[in-house]
Order: sequence, then C-alpha cells, then structure tokens
Amino acid sequence: MTGIGSRTGGETMHVPPGWVRDGAGRLLAAGRPVAELADAHGTPLFVYDGALVEARVRAFRAAMPQGLRLHYAVKANPMPELLARVAPLVEGFDVASGGELGHARAAGMAGGQIGFAGPGKRDWEIEAAVREGALLQVESAGELARVRAIAQRLGRPARVALRVNPPFRLRGSGMHMGGGASPFGIDAAEVPAVLAALDGSGLIFEGFHLFAGSQNLDWQALAAMSAHSIALVAELAAHAPAPPRLVTLGGGFGVPYFPADRPLDVAALGAALSRQLAARPPVLGATHFAFELGRWLVAEAGIYLTRVVDRKRSAGQTFLVTDGGLHHQLAATGNLGTVVRRNYPLALADRAGGPVEQVNVVGCLCTPLDRLGDRVWLPEARPGDLIAVFMAGAYGRTASPEGFLGHPPAGERLVG
Ligand SMILES: Cc1ncc(COP(=O)(O)O)c(C=O)c1O
Repeated sequence: MTGIGSRTGGETMHVPPGWVRDGAGRLLAAGRPVAELADAHGTPLFVYDGALVEARVRAFRAAMPQGLRLHYAVKANPMPELLARVAPLVEGFDVASGGELGHARAAGMAGGQIGFAGPGKRDWEIEAAVREGALLQVESAGELARVRAIAQRLGRPARVALRVNPPFRLRGSGMHMGGGASPFGIDAAEVPAVLAALDGSGLIFEGFHLFAGSQNLDWQALAAMSAHSIALVAELAAHAPAPPRLVTLGGGFGVPYFPADRPLDVAALGAALSRQLAARPPVLGATHFAFELGRWLVAEAGIYLTRVVDRKRSAGQTFLVTDGGLHHQLAATGNLGTVVRRNYPLALADRAGGPVEQVNVVGCLCTPLDRLGDRVWLPEARPGDLIAVFMAGAYGRTASPEGFLGHPPAGERLVG
C-alpha cells in the first residue's frame, strides 16, 4: 500500500493519515476500494472511517490529563451511525438544537450527558432539554428566566451552566465565537449578576461553559486560552451559589487543510493543561473539566466521492465537471467562512500514476462558486472516473445548502 501524493500549485497537499492506496493504485477506505463503495451506493457519496475517529479519541486520551472529559460536538457530523459509534467513546455530546438533542438521544447518549449550547433556544427546545435532564448552557439573562419559568411549569429540576463570553480572544482561530460583542454567552462582567439571580431560583447550577473559536492549529494559543479560562471561572465561581461541577473549556482544535498548515501538537497542549489543572485554584478543586470537539475528531476521517461527468477545455484550461459540488461540500469550495479560497486535498480515487495534468475540478451547479479544485494536478481523468475530496468528515453534508438547485442529496456510509 502506498501513501497518496496530491498537488496544488506545485505544493504537496496534506492527505490525512489513514488514507492509502492498494498495489493497483486504488484508494482504500477501511481496506476496501472506495470505487466499490461508489459503485454499490452511487455518487456523490460521503465515506467516513469509524476506525480513524476511534484513533482520534485514543490520541486525545493519550495526550490529555487523566480525567479531562471529551465531549463530541454533534454539529460537526450528525450522521446517525457515526453518532452511535462515538457515543460510547466519549463522556458527553454537545448539541446546538432540539433536533440535535433528538439525534443524540437516538444514538444512545444519556440525557444527563448532553450539553445544549446555542443562542435562540426556543421554548420547546428548552422544554425537551429539561425533560431529558440535559445541561442547558445558558446564553443570556433572558434565556435563564425562560428556563426557570419552563422548569417551574413542568415541575422538574433544570440543570444550567452559564456560557461566558470571555473578555479575551482565542488567537489564531479560523472563526471567533467570543471576546468582544457576541451573540454567544453572557459577557463575563455581567455573569456575577446573573449568578445572583440563580439564588433561590430552583435551578441546579452546574458550572460554566466557554467556547471561543474554531479551527485553531496553535497549541500555545489554545493553552493560553485555557489558562485564561481557568483563571476567569475561578473568579466567577466566587459569585456562584455552589462550586462549579463542570467547566467546559471549549475546544476549537484545528486540522491541517492546506499545504502550509501543521497538525496541532496535542501532546504539547495536553502537557500544558496538566500543569494548569494541577495548579488550579482551590475553588475549582472538585470541578470536572471538558473539551467539546467536533472537527478534530471527525474531519480527517471522511472523504467526499464525486464522479466526473464531463471533461472540457476552455481558454486553455481543462475542466472536470463532476456530479457533486458545493450543495454537499460547501467548505471544500471555499464558501464556508474562508476569506481566501484554497484547495482541499483531492485525488483521483480509482487509480494512481500515469501522466498528470493541471485541471479545474468543478461541481454541477450553475454558479462559478462551485469549484472543488482550482488548477490542481491530477492524473488524466475521463468521464466516469472518481475523485475523492479529503477532509470531508466535519461540516460537510449538513453544513451545505443541499436543496440549492434541486440536485439529489449525497449518500453517506460509515465503514471501518
Ligand atoms: C459551542 C460549540 N461547541 C463546540 C463546537 C465545535 O467546534 P469544533 O468543530 O471546532 O471542534 C462549536 C463550533 O462552532 C461550538 O460553537
């Protein structure tokens, strides 16, 4: 078996670990040619390798201090079979809607191990969370009042943590979710007043939740963030009705999408966290800490398979027109939160070798935004050939405008 070379603009693209070819040059998923999966299930098709996700969980455990909890952020990939595979491996699920709460329960995650964060929770969602015994990560004083009223009406206890909008930013993140004006969480300066309102409310105070940003490859920035977060929650805990049982430190572990990216050094981050937790203030002595991760656990474990429908030349360039596109894998076309469009790693999946050429790999949507590969180098491909776009395990199918232009949805298969 061989590794997979893939080039863009003369640079070698990262092909995530675990993806290899057999002697005939066919790309394999869990030991099986992906072309067989495409033939059996049709294209476009997302393929997720469960063993690669498990390997990520093991890598997390090996690097992080003992007792640090791992929660899976369902938003990254809510495929039911994948959720069922991940549920027994982690201490909890993070959900962002009543719909995800339902997915989490269907996957076998206990209600008490589910945290629900996200702005704009509707009353029915709060009610469902209270009924399931889930932890509501409260995003505002107004939301807290609604949780209280709903719990009273239901005559049930409600478990709450306050999501804090910290006064600092996570350096080097692809996407910021805090540190400044934000719809997420309660400004740290307001938290003491909201904590005071908890007294006598009948709500069960569980702790604090922070989530400052996503797609960060800089372990020092993440370590600085957790150090600041621990110091901040220690301060806030002085105003709380009880010591926090759980502090969610966020996550935002990034993955290397592009040639200049380097994988996150989780060993260094884990060592820093061990030191921070060992030295934490006494008020947090009995507190559990958790990271809630999506992308880092699943992004590299997925590929998106799409078949070449047409090959054409225009103004000196070659275009491979495929049956897929941004309606399934928006992020790979550079239209999901990126400023500069860059190519995700991609490769011809049914064979390797032969003369290479520079091509544009485009989708079948009638918009110039639908470009999966911009002037990438691939072996000469023809209609019927299969192209694999890597890094498709997170924020793929469900983060894409599937209904746009009325093309069929992509299939999904879990292997491994
Ligand atoms: C509250 C919360 N938790 C967890 C995540 C997962 O982040 P990631 O996929 O970067 O690990 C997000 C992402 O936006 C989030 O908003």
